[in-house]
Amino acid sequence: MDIADRMKHIAPSMTLAIDAKAKKMREEGKDVLNFGAGEPDFNPPAAVIDAAARAVTDGKNNKYTPAAGTLELRKALCAMLEREYQVTYAPGDVVVSCGAKHSLYNAFLTLVNPGDEVLVPSPFWVSYPEQIKLAGGVPVFVDCPESEGFRLTAAAVKAKLTPKTKVLVLNSPSNPTGAVVDRKTMEGIAELALKHGLWVISDEIYAKMTYGVSHTCFPALSKEIAAQTLLVNGASKAYAMTGWRVGYTAGPPKVMKAFADLQSHTTSNPTAVAQKAYLAALDTPESELEKNRQLYRKRRDMMIAGLNAIPGVRCGTPEGAFYVFPNVKGLLKAGREDSMKLSEYLLEKALLAITPGIAFGAEGFMRLSYATSEKVIEEGLKRLAEAVKG
Ligand SMILES: Cc1ncc(COP(=O)(O)O)c(C=O)c1O
Repeated sequence: MDIADRMKHIAPSMTLAIDAKAKKMREEGKDVLNFGAGEPDFNPPAAVIDAAARAVTDGKNNKYTPAAGTLELRKALCAMLEREYQVTYAPGDVVVSCGAKHSLYNAFLTLVNPGDEVLVPSPFWVSYPEQIKLAGGVPVFVDCPESEGFRLTAAAVKAKLTPKTKVLVLNSPSNPTGAVVDRKTMEGIAELALKHGLWVISDEIYAKMTYGVSHTCFPALSKEIAAQTLLVNGASKAYAMTGWRVGYTAGPPKVMKAFADLQSHTTSNPTAVAQKAYLAALDTPESELEKNRQLYRKRRDMMIAGLNAIPGVRCGTPEGAFYVFPNVKGLLKAGREDSMKLSEYLLEKALLAITPGIAFGAEGFMRLSYATSEKVIEEGLKRLAEAVKG
C-alpha cells in the first residue's frame, strides 16, 4: 500500500513554506508585502474580458473543441508567429494546452525517454527539473553565472554534453534571473544543437517583456533549427491571463502529432471560453503592451537602485521578465545563514515575502518580482534595508 515510485522523486516546492506562511500572516491581518508573485498585477485587456463574456452568452462554447485547440485559434497563432517573428507553422503543427506549464509537461513526455539527459540552464524555473523527472529524464544543470549576467552561453552548453543528452531547455527571458540571451549567442547554441542532434524546448513565455533589447524567437533562426525545436508560449504573462490557463506549443509535424495524441488522452482541449479569450488577446495593439513594458521598466529600475543601496546586496540589471535576482551573500549571518533562512527572517521581522534563491538552484540569491505597485516596492525596500541593518 504505497504511492507510485515516480512520486517519491518529486521535490516539494521550497517556495511553498514561505508562501503558506505569508498567506496565513495576511489572514491574521498582518500587512505582508508580496514580492513572490509570478504574475502581472494588472488585468487583461478589456477586449479579452468582452470576448470571453460574449463567448459565454452566445451559447456556442459549451462543447468540446478539437483536443489540440480550435482551428481559428491555431490559425491566429500561426499568423501571429509569421507576422512577429517570420517563422512559419501550419495550424496542424500547433497544440493549445492548459497553460504553458502544461505545454512544457507534454513536451517532456513526448521527447524524453527514461535515462535521457535534459540540459537546463541554472538558475532555473522550479518546474523544469520536476517535470523532466516525471518523464523519466535526468535534469543536468548548465551554469549561468552572475558574472555573465546569468546568460546562457554555447560554451556552457557544450561543456555539459554527453552521449545521453537528448534535449536542451531554453528560457529567455529567464525566470528567475530576467536574463535575455542575444541573437548571436542563440545562433551559437543553435549550431551546437544541430551538430549534436539535440531537441530544443524554447520556453518564450516572457517574450513580450524585454527592456531595451529585442527578443530572439529561437525557431525563427533557421528552418533547420525549427525542425528540432518546440516553441512554447502562452497568454499568462503577456496579457495578464494567468488564471485563464492557455498556452501553446509549435513544432515539427512528427512531434506535434504525438504531442496532440498525448493531450487527447489526458486533458482533451483547454477550456473553450479561454481559447476565445486568447484569440481576442492576440489582437492587443502593441502600443498597449508597450505601456506595460514602460511601467515594468520603471519599477525594475526602482528596485535595482533600492537594492544596490543596501550594504551587502548586489543587483545587476536584467533585460527581461519581471524579476530581479540580487546576490545577498553579504546579508547571510547567524540566524539567517542561507537564502531560505533569510526569507523566513524577512517574513517574520519585516513582513516581506521574498523567494529564496535556493528554490531556483542558486544559494546566496533571492528573487523579487516587481509585478507590483511602485508604492509597495518603495515600502518593501525601506523595510528590507531596515531589517538587515547591522
Ligand atoms: C519560465 C516559465 N515557464 C512557464 C510558466 C508557466 O506559465 P503558464 O501560466 O502559462 O502555465 C511560467 C510561470 O510562472 C514560467 O515562469
